[in-house]
Parts: sequence; structure tokens; C-alpha cells
Amino acid sequence: MKVQVDRRDGLTAAADVTASGVFERPEKDDTFPRSLQREDDAVRGLVKAAWARKEVKGKRKEVTVFHRPDGKGRILVIGLGPRAQFSVDTVRRAAAEVVRACRGKGARTVAFTLGSFVADNVRSEAAAAALAEGAILGDYEFLKYQSKSEGRIEEAGIHLGEEFSRDEAALKKAVANQVDLDDCVVWARDIANLPADTASPQRLADEAVALGKEFGLKVTVFDEKKLAEMGCHGILAVGGGSMAHPPRLVVLEYPGGARRGRTVAVVGKGITFDSGGISIKPAVGMQEMKFDKSGAVAVLGILRAAAALKVPPRVVGVLCCAENVPSGTSYRPGDVVRSFNGKTIEVLNTDAEGRVVLSDGLGYVVKQYHPDEVIDLATLTGAQVVALGDDTAGLVSNDEKLAQGLLSASAVSGEPVWRMPLTDYHRELVKSEVADVRNSTEIPVAGMLTAGAFLESFVGTTPWAHLDIAGPAYTTARTRKWQPAYQNVGATAFGVRLVTRYLEASPPRG
Ligand code: BES
Ligand code: ZN
Ligand code: ZN
Repeated sequence: MKVQVDRRDGLTAAADVTASGVFERPEKDDTFPRSLQREDDAVRGLVKAAWARKEVKGKRKEVTVFHRPDGKGRILVIGLGPRAQFSVDTVRRAAAEVVRACRGKGARTVAFTLGSFVADNVRSEAAAAALAEGAILGDYEFLKYQSKSEGRIEEAGIHLGEEFSRDEAALKKAVANQVDLDDCVVWARDIANLPADTASPQRLADEAVALGKEFGLKVTVFDEKKLAEMGCHGILAVGGGSMAHPPRLVVLEYPGGARRGRTVAVVGKGITFDSGGISIKPAVGMQEMKFDKSGAVAVLGILRAAAALKVPPRVVGVLCCAENVPSGTSYRPGDVVRSFNGKTIEVLNTDAEGRVVLSDGLGYVVKQYHPDEVIDLATLTGAQVVALGDDTAGLVSNDEKLAQGLLSASAVSGEPVWRMPLTDYHRELVKSEVADVRNSTEIPVAGMLTAGAFLESFVGTTPWAHLDIAGPAYTTARTRKWQPAYQNVGATAFGVRLVTRYLEASPPRG
């Protein structure tokens, strides 16, 4: 989808659909909103009539379409909900609702009237960016294996009209930045949606190499032979069951906008398929485990966005890629594996494989790059989904500043995150009788946090944050209904927007 900022007002543009927002009518106040007067004129009083008969109430997600008698397209009124609850995310969701309502109905272009999506607490630049984002993400669908599209919207215009035309330059800049970021989200979604027969560890490495060529990033791929020399026995153990799709560790480097900047490392879990291994998962829902690579794919998206948006710090991306399947060469419960940093891991459940591959990636990046901060992203635990649901990622961190920075970036990006505690109780639970740590605890409590305690032991004293994205990484037909309209069924690429906004706000140090 092409997104353009246009000085004209939405009604004069010859778009197939002109979309305007309206707040929910306050109780006992039936005054027709002045903001819809011009729309009403264009359809000769039909909007006012719909308002009077309470067809238009301004409730969230409420879509009403009017056909212009002059044949110049349709007017769409989207409900924004109560004014008191209005936020940037309201605008993002509304734009996506509009796009989804227009799809498959012969509309190719949509014009948003910016003024109707702006309020005291949502300024024009934030509103314009949110309209762009909602439109792009709401229009996304994964079509590689389907010839039938729901009918995409080709162009979205953000129309300033007289009210905002003097801010055109700033608005254009804000929208361009948002479009560049969401291009990376769409790109990452396309990779994350690929099934495991196609998206092997080598394929993820190939994507990294291609990305490196396009954006001038240094990319290194370590294959199973090299991993053995390095001592990455975590990744080798987890990937050992798959002779067909051997494991890879991939490192990408974006040099940073400043000459001697800070280094932020971003490490992703890249399990291309998680069958559970010898501790095999139940068949029902197992197809969803093609999304177990979402952390690594998010890292690819973040590196692309870092380069496209030229964020200040140096960024090192690490993808820990392996296929977790049962076979005669699989690792087993009871095995003890030595991670890159020398620590030993007692394997009690081969389905707790994410933390085992991440132990190598974290240990490696800390030793090799001495980063100022490490952020990892992983579809790590079912416990995350139980605790926080499908929309909110769990955050575990050993560093106050980093955690706060990510929470701020969460508010800006619209990707929800909730911080959870990490205490000696959790550290105690991952201690092993036979090794330094165990990959699964004796009692099934605080699964997201014991996983965090496990990871913490591989970063030493480096400021570190762990994002458990098991729930928000993807949407299914079953969970789609509860998600915002900008989230179609399939991969979300959760974390790309969040971490990129964090990196953008991160000052260069040096
Ligand atoms: N990939 C799964 C976690 C997951 C669950 C991701 C649901 C997305 C949706 C992970 O490897 C796993 O199986 N974790 C186990 C850990 C347990 C064995 C300690 C879990 O959460 O049950
Ligand atoms: Zn697993
Ligand atoms: Zn997994």
C-alpha cells in the first residue's frame, strides 16, 4: 500500500472512500458534531439523518457508509469511542477498521481527513503516523500460498485540508518515518508466516545475508561445523534432531549513526519448528509452532529498521536458529550440555529448547561485542500466554533504565509490554543437582520468570531485558476476533516496532 500526505481536504480528493472519525455521542447530548458538517453536505443531509435516528453513535469500530449523489465515491464515518478514552492507538485501530471495511468492496483508494483524528492529547503528527500505520498493517495479508486476496487497498491518503496544510513538512516527515518502519514490519511478517518446510535455519540465514547486501550490514553465518568449534553446544543439542535442517547462528551488524556509539545487542529465538523434540507436544495446535522463530525474525526486522531509520546506536543482531524435532540424533531429557560461556545445562524437558539456544547467542554476543545492553526476544513460554494473554509481551530485566526505556517505547509504538519480577526465588528454582542450571523446574510455577532467571545466568552483569512474545507473536483464526483490526491472522512481527522505537530514542554514547 502506498501512503501519501496530501494538502487537499479529504472531500475534494477523488478517493473511492473518504473516511472521517467521530467521537461517541455523550449521554443526553444529541447535537450533531460540527466536524461532520461538510461530510453531511456532500451527501445532502444523510449523515445528520443517520445521527438523528442513532444509526451513527460514534461507538468504537462502528462503520457507516454513505454514497455521494454526485458519484464521487463514498463517505465513511468511523466511530472513535468516548473522547475521554481517545489515544494514538484509537487512531491506529480506526484506520485499520476503515481499511478492512473497504476491502473486497471495490475500493482502491482511501482518503483520511486528518482533522477528525486529532484531539488535545493526540497531536497531528502522531495522528498522521497512526493513520499510516493502521492502514498499512490493517491491509496486510499473507498471500504466498493463496491466489485469492480479500481485495487490497492500493493507496491511502492523509488529507490535511486548510487546518494542517502549513504543517505539511513536519507531517510528511512523521508519516515517512512510520511508513519506513511498517515496511519492515510487513517484510518481517512475510518471513515469519513461512512454514517450516521453507523457513529452515539456513533460509533465515539466507534472508539475513540478502538483507545485509541490501542495507550494507555485515552478516556472519555459523554452520554446525563452526558452532562445534566455537562450543555452542546448546544450539547444536537442540538442532541435533534435524539432519535435514541443521542449526545456524547468524550475526548481523549495523554500525550505528554516531561514530563511536553505544552498542545494543538484540538476540532472537529462531526455532523454525518446535515439535517439542523427544518431550513431544500434543498434535492439536502444533502447526502454530512454525511461529517459534518469531523472535529471530523480529531481530531481522529490527536490523532492517535500524538501518532504514538510521538509529543512533550500533546494533548487533543474533539469530539462534534450529529445528526441534525428535529423531535418533535428538538431545534427550537427562542430557547435560555445555553452553558457549562454559556453563552446563541439565536438560529435563526437550520442549524447553528456546532458553537452551538463547544461552549460546547471549553468551556469544556478550563475550564478542561487550554490548552496553542486550535485549532478547523469544516465543519462550506458554506461561507468558497464561499470565498476560495474546496481546501483551512479558518483560524481565536486570536493569531499571533499560526496562523503563522499553516501557516508554512500548507506549509510543503501540506494542503492549508488562514488566514482571525476577527474584532469588526464580533463580533458586533453575538450579540443578548435576549441572549449573536446569532447563525446566521441578514444580510448575512462574514459568515465564524461571525462564528469565535461566537466561539471566548467561548475560553476566550486562544490562539485559528479555521479551517473552509467545502470545503476541501471532494471531490465529480463534484469537483474531479479540485483536485490534491491524492484526490479521498469522505473524504479527511483534517487537519490531517496539525495539526500533527504543533504539531511536537511545542516545549514542562515546
Ligand atoms: N515454543 C514454546 C512456547 C510457546 C507456547 C510459544 C505457546 C508460543 C505459544 C516453548 O518452547 C515451550 O514449549 N515451552 C514450554 C517450557 C516448559 C517445558 C518448561 C512451555 O511453555 O510449556
Ligand atoms: Zn518448546
Ligand atoms: Zn519453543
